[in-house]
Amino acid sequence: MHNTDAQTILAFSPTVRGARSNGILLVTIDNPPVNALSADVRAGLMAALGHAAADEAIAGLVVTGAGKTFVGGADIREFGKPPVEPNLPAVIAALESASKPVIAAINGAALGGGLEVALACHARIAAKSASLGLPEVTLGLVPGAGGTQRLPRLIGALPALDMIAGGKPVDAATALRTGLVDAIADGQLLETAISHALELSGKPLRRTGLLKVAVPDPAAFEVAAKKIRDRARGRLAPVEATRLVQLAATVDLETGLAEERATFLRLRDSDQSAALRHAFFAERGAGKVTHLKDVDPRPLSVIGIAGTGLMGCGIAVATLSAGYRVVALDQTPEAAAKGGERIAGLIRQSVASGRLSDAAASEQLSRLNVTADISDLAAADMVIEAVFDDFDVKVALFRSLDAVVRPDAILVTNTSYLDPDAIAAQTVRPERVVGLHFFSPAHVMRLIEVVRCARTDDDVLSTALAFARKLKKIPVVCGVCEGFVGNRIFSAYRSEAERLLEEGALPQDIDRAMEAYGFPMGLFAVYDMAGLEIAWARRKRQAAARDPAAPYFEIPDRLCEAGRFGAKSGRGWYVYEDGKRRVDPQVDAMIDAYRVEKGFVPRAIGDDEIMERLLASMAREGEALLAQGIADSPDDIDVVMIHGYGFPAHHGGPMFAARRG
Ligand code: COA
Repeated sequence: MHNTDAQTILAFSPTVRGARSNGILLVTIDNPPVNALSADVRAGLMAALGHAAADEAIAGLVVTGAGKTFVGGADIREFGKPPVEPNLPAVIAALESASKPVIAAINGAALGGGLEVALACHARIAAKSASLGLPEVTLGLVPGAGGTQRLPRLIGALPALDMIAGGKPVDAATALRTGLVDAIADGQLLETAISHALELSGKPLRRTGLLKVAVPDPAAFEVAAKKIRDRARGRLAPVEATRLVQLAATVDLETGLAEERATFLRLRDSDQSAALRHAFFAERGAGKVTHLKDVDPRPLSVIGIAGTGLMGCGIAVATLSAGYRVVALDQTPEAAAKGGERIAGLIRQSVASGRLSDAAASEQLSRLNVTADISDLAAADMVIEAVFDDFDVKVALFRSLDAVVRPDAILVTNTSYLDPDAIAAQTVRPERVVGLHFFSPAHVMRLIEVVRCARTDDDVLSTALAFARKLKKIPVVCGVCEGFVGNRIFSAYRSEAERLLEEGALPQDIDRAMEAYGFPMGLFAVYDMAGLEIAWARRKRQAAARDPAAPYFEIPDRLCEAGRFGAKSGRGWYVYEDGKRRVDPQVDAMIDAYRVEKGFVPRAIGDDEIMERLLASMAREGEALLAQGIADSPDDIDVVMIHGYGFPAHHGGPMFAARRG
């Protein structure tokens, strides 16, 4: 460490402090949990700059964050409240124009306003673990304090467009490659930054705002811009971000900043941003159960997974990547070996796509044991079943597990449609049974419905939640009912879509309306992609138990009877040629004939009515789930629909959309 001057800690504000080190003022932002740039952080930074300017003995400044974050961005909770001076653009202008060098020592995430602060500094030194990004588009915003104008000046318009319109942070190594940071510190971040400040002292400073934008190849920029516009699906922010980055290359800084600020303020007050902010906080609130606050989760290290089909393998991959040991069980040594290969194959895909190193993949696989011998599960702290969704199959498995696992081991069912209370009741210790409803593919999808059974112990539930979080998933607690939260709502709007077909809409009309609203795919296109045969087989199994008087929509059965099983078979609700989906007049004719047969008189139904009715059906079912105590809050329902069913986050979720009117 450098010589530390008389260690007086200066309080520039309640959340910004300073200390002198070797003639450099070390400014630390300490505003837990993420050092957001709230009013007193902004005031503190101004005070620190003023202090440094007034004191001749100070040669420069280093700005850093306390804890594991540099600065997580503007304080999102301040949006919608009356503005408090100084605003962020003013702080940033003061940083950039400071006469003494200001170095950003980026100790962790520098996001949004945090990166804008760093961009205004005269150099940036990053810790290896730093991440840097402008994620505003994910909140329906554009950067509002110079990000769209300074980032292109520092790293060029195309890489800047990628970061701003995509919203994804980059790691320190990438940031060094693009010129976003000047150096990566090897462990000694503050010392390196302080030396750098001393080196720059008295020299001409590089002010990002005064740099020229590297003029991109206009054709390449337009290709990238078009891709962003095509993928926006109604979202305003990425399109505006593209426009602003383009502007940076053509106008002076002041004009660019003014346009950026005006756009930021307009978007901040938009419905889309309100919806995305709601989704942000709803996601972070999910899985927080008040009465479990003081219930410690149990430690887990060995996880058993029974069943190595697609679901079991996906769960195994997620569990291995979270650092657990996994014992994966299947019925025969051949099936287990096949499961092991499938798990290894999924992990290899991550290596191929650059998300995982070879060494990390080998390390993960070294924690995997595949077996056909159930007694190998004796070591498990928790066993997750992912076998065929049939009551007798699951109960037989749980009974065998009862005889093998420790009395305190947790038993998890991944059922989608069966009653987990009924399964638990067949076991010796129902209080250790809990549901974890993963979505497929389980190593990719972030949502997990954590099903609180009637007799689940609190610490079992708390452990299931902690496990889901360790897997970097989003856990939403729900009670027991058929389909839990997500599939209940899905069934409700699927029924509404079927009514719409009977009344005169066609599958392509419904899909078009949903896609225009922002769903990545319409309902019928999704059916085709997933394949129609599994649901058909289930309906046939359940046919005997169905009330013959209840309304029953027969088209899906008729499609399957005609050999139309979806995209894989080339035909389903649509027809597929060369991988392209096309409307099939045969399906239209089939629906027409069905309407005639059942006495429906078709009418024209507009896209607005389609969407209004689908949304209303989701919200109605959501209210029923709340009234029945299956879902704990409307926010939880929104999280389930956004992360499990492609509901567009920029509408906030069905409950948010309905309540906003
Ligand atoms: N403003 C206000 N609160 C914020 C915030 C922000 N910019 N960023 C995070 N928080 C809050 C979260 O709501 C959460 O609060 P809670 O504990 O009451 O639920 C808490 O900080 C921790 O956030 P979390 O995301 O759970 O922590 P993490 O360590 O996993 O991730 C970040 C930290 C900074 C990477 C992440 O919070 C993030 O991406 N934040 C948003 C960044 C952003 O979009 N900035 C641009 C704003 S315009």
